[in-house]
Amino acid sequence: MRSKITVVGAGNVGATLAQRLAERDYADVVLVDIVEGLPQGKALDMLEAGPIVGYDSLVTGANDYAATAGSDIVVVTSGLPRKPGMSRDDLVMSNAKIVATVVREAVAQSPECILIIVSNPVDGMAQLAMAVSGFPRTRVIGMGGVLDTARFRTFIAQELDASVRDVQAYVLGGHGDTMIPLTRFTTVAGLPVSDLITTERLEEIVQRARNGGAEIVNLLKTGSAYYAPSAAVAQMVDAIAHDTRQVLPCTVHLEGEYGVRGVFTGVPCRLGTGGLIEVVDVELTESERAELHRSADAVRQIIDVMNARRDEIASSLPELA
Ligand code: NAI
Ligand code: 2OP
Repeated sequence: MRSKITVVGAGNVGATLAQRLAERDYADVVLVDIVEGLPQGKALDMLEAGPIVGYDSLVTGANDYAATAGSDIVVVTSGLPRKPGMSRDDLVMSNAKIVATVVREAVAQSPECILIIVSNPVDGMAQLAMAVSGFPRTRVIGMGGVLDTARFRTFIAQELDASVRDVQAYVLGGHGDTMIPLTRFTTVAGLPVSDLITTERLEEIVQRARNGGAEIVNLLKTGSAYYAPSAAVAQMVDAIAHDTRQVLPCTVHLEGEYGVRGVFTGVPCRLGTGGLIEVVDVELTESERAELHRSADAVRQIIDVMNARRDEIASSLPELA
């Protein structure tokens, strides 16, 4: 049977993701947005590309959630993107209200779905989505690490004139500014990256990957990245829908792993049927572990902001942590 995937937010990330998923041809896609006509128009346009590209995915657009009923996966991309000079955290309260409303409505129609959260600041929004949905942690997964890792891999490949396919890397921690690349485990065609790039140059590359989102915001001026982000979500959807059990860096609710409890942070996750299969434990050095804890503390600060203003976000919202 074909999967059913809902993408909430028909903006840059949501619409590009819907197109990527339609072209994969294993799922029907429902695109939802509050702007009247926008999801319907984009969905129809994608549907009409089917005969040319060669897919039978049914793509529909809607302004309410009836059409999303029974979705296997719901991806939440609704919310404001950053403007130049803004951090992801500046978006907390405005996006929290949007994410809470969207998650409540979406899970009412699809109580068994797996939620993939994209809206920023993603670690905090995933924490909110788990509280609103009441889902177990296996079914609430945030996207951040796949994108951060892709940026890091891109810059390493450019530096060495290598194929991106040969660059393997893991990034832990919060999305973006607090990401922690595990350079010890980064390899190029099987060779440790430290044998190929000097420590100083590697640190510059790490820094560029950390600022990868801001670099694009500064170029675009009126929005943030969406080609690589939508590709990152599509890879996570593939792993879940096809039960590939691939290990991907995702933000999930940690329950003691890496010494962190009760907060969403980016760690290597095995994804497959049912969502999160397991958090993969990687032996960290003391300094990597300290960095991961700093990253989790940064997410806790966002949770504190939301907890203090819970009533403004949604009615009867439980404590987030
Ligand atoms: P966008 O502005 O192009 O699209 C957002 C869409 O959400 C708009 O079409 C808007 O009408 C819709 N929307 C707003 N409120 C809604 C509601 N209540 N219900 C349904 N739809 C609603 O923004 P873009 O570029 O698509 O980014 C979306 C979000 O994803 C932003 O918060 C951005 O920061 C985040 N993002 C996160 C990434 C990550 O790695 N986690 C990567 C890229 C973007
Ligand atoms: C990015 O890193 C906006 O979080 C998004 O591009």
